[in-house]
Amino acid sequence: MKLTASVLLCAALAWPQVATEANKGYTTKEGRDGVARTLDNPNRDKNQKPEEIIALMKIKPGMTVADIGTGTGYMLPHLSRAVGPDGKVIGEDIAGDFLDRARAKVGADHIANAVLTLGTATDPKLPRGAVDIALCLDVYHHFDYPQDMLANIARGLKPHGHFVIVDFYKKDRPDHIRLEREDVAKEVEANGFRLVSKVDRTGNNQYMLTFEKR
Ligand SMILES: C[S@@+](CC[C@H](N)C(=O)[O-])C[C@H]1O[C@@H](n2cnc3c(N)ncnc32)[C@H](O)[C@@H]1O
Repeated sequence: MKLTASVLLCAALAWPQVATEANKGYTTKEGRDGVARTLDNPNRDKNQKPEEIIALMKIKPGMTVADIGTGTGYMLPHLSRAVGPDGKVIGEDIAGDFLDRARAKVGADHIANAVLTLGTATDPKLPRGAVDIALCLDVYHHFDYPQDMLANIARGLKPHGHFVIVDFYKKDRPDHIRLEREDVAKEVEANGFRLVSKVDRTGNNQYMLTFEKR
């Protein structure tokens, strides 16, 4: 009995699920369908300003970019245009039903330079050393295992590749967002990255942090 309890405690300490609150609405198909409607809301561009994100990311034609946690693929058309026909976009998510929606968008928009890939809560399964820029738009606070994700994102990036986080301020959504921006920066820097730029506001109410792989 004692042994079982200590095994369970060790397992809990080794695999802390830190984003339980943020992921509450994602655990059922119905919940994800509701989230999908929000992500695909036709009015979203007004607040999100996706082209502003693209400009801030400094994407060059021919680059390989990864949209980690692509969801329904909201950013894929924008990323696809930015990398151009010689570039590549990897849209990754851990939810197969989101990826089905993203796949439908890629087909409907005739996006020829995007591939979709199913990752896990600890690993986006990027090709090793292949990615110039990895984006997490409204995704970092959903990571249940940030250290594993960061190690595996770093592994997928080219030397000096960039990791871009766009997320909400904790003060605006205290129940949903796990960390203040400064603590996100500390966590990412402690796991193989160096902060290279900070934008206080993109879209109506998010910040952007850009890191370089060390
Ligand atoms: C709020 S949605 C944002 C989707 C998309 N980036 C957008 O802005 O439209 C959060 C997404 O993160 C995904 N997600 C959560 N944990 C993840 C992880 N460890 N790796 C990859 N994606 C994850 C969810 O499945 C969901 O699609």
